[in-house]
Amino acid sequence: MNSDHSNSRRNFLGITGKAGLSTLVATAAGINLGVIDLVHAQGKKVQPFRFAMISDSHLFSQANHKFDAQLEEAVDQVNKMAVQPDFVLYGGDVAQNGTEDQLAKGKKILAKLKPKYVIIPGEHDWYVDMGTAWRGLYGGNNPGGKEFWSFDHKGVHFIGMNSILVKDFWTAAKLTPKERMERMEMLEGPWGGLWGVQEEQLEFLRKDVARLGPDTPIVVFTHSPLWDYYPRWGFGTADGADIRNILGKFENVMSFHGHVHQTIYNKIGNLASVGAMSTSWPWPYPDVPLAFPQSRMYRADPGDETDGMGSLYASLGETRTAVVQHQPFADSLTPWMKNGFTA
Ligand SMILES: [Fe+2]
Ligand SMILES: [Fe+2]
Repeated sequence: MNSDHSNSRRNFLGITGKAGLSTLVATAAGINLGVIDLVHAQGKKVQPFRFAMISDSHLFSQANHKFDAQLEEAVDQVNKMAVQPDFVLYGGDVAQNGTEDQLAKGKKILAKLKPKYVIIPGEHDWYVDMGTAWRGLYGGNNPGGKEFWSFDHKGVHFIGMNSILVKDFWTAAKLTPKERMERMEMLEGPWGGLWGVQEEQLEFLRKDVARLGPDTPIVVFTHSPLWDYYPRWGFGTADGADIRNILGKFENVMSFHGHVHQTIYNKIGNLASVGAMSTSWPWPYPDVPLAFPQSRMYRADPGDETDGMGSLYASLGETRTAVVQHQPFADSLTPWMKNGFTA
C-alpha cells in the first residue's frame, strides 16, 4: 500500500457526500485523467462523459431470489441517472455458482440497461466450464468478443481483463467441474493460490498500449484489485505488479474493480484504484490499515439488507477531474462524509 500526499496541487483529494450519496472527488495525480490536456493537444472540444459500474450480483438459480431484485435496482439506478452514462461496466460475479441458468438470468436483467455495457468475468462466473457459458452469453458485449478487450472512448483508453485465472489444481485432484467451482467460490480457499491475468493477457496488454503516448488517460477494469489488499481472501491479483509496470509509462491510470464488495481506494505510483460496492452483500473490511482516504463504508443499519450495496459512476473530463460517486441503495453509507472531508 502506498500513497503520496506531499504535493497539495497534484494530490488534492476531497470527499463530500449528500442526500445519501457519497462522492470521492479526486484530482490526485493518478486519478486525474488529464482529459482536457489531451483534447487540447488534439485541438478538439472538451467532451466530458460518464460511465457507470455495476458488480458482484451473485445470482442464484432460485426464481425471484432477493439478489435478482437487487440487480434490478442497480439497473434502475443507472437508468434513472439524470446525466446518462455513455456505457456501463459490469465488474464480474454475475452468478453465484457459474451455471448457465444463473448467467442467463443476469443477462436478461442487464438487457434492461439503457446504455450498452461491457463486462469482465469474476471467479463465480468461470470455474464450472472455464468460461464457456460466460463467453457464449456475454462475449458479444465486448470488443473482440472475449473476456479481455480494449477500446478508445472520447480520448480515454479503456481496458478490461480477466484477473481470476489460477493454475490447474483440479486435473491431478480429479475434481468434477462442480467440485472445482465449489473450491473457487470460497472466500479463503487455498487451492488455486492467488489468481491473476496470466501471460496471454499480459502480452495482450503490452501490445495494446505500445502505440499509445504517455499522456493518454487509461482506465483499466479487473474483477480483483491490482494491489495486495488482502490476498488471503483473494483481495489481490498475482500479476498486479506486472500490470502496473506495463502501465507505468502513462501519466494517468485509473483502475476500477469489483470482488471486494465494499468501497475501497488506493493509489500506487501512477495507478489510482477504486473498488465498487456489490449488489448482493457487503464483505466486512479485513483487519488491515486502509490507504488514505479511508473511504470505508459505515453500515449504520445491519438490519437493512441492502445497506452497503449499490452501483457507482465516474465522471471524466471538465476541470481535469475524475469524480467517482458511489450510489448506495440505502442512505447510511459513509455518513461521516456528509460534512465534507479535505486533505
Ligand atoms: Fe463477488
Ligand atoms: Fe469475486
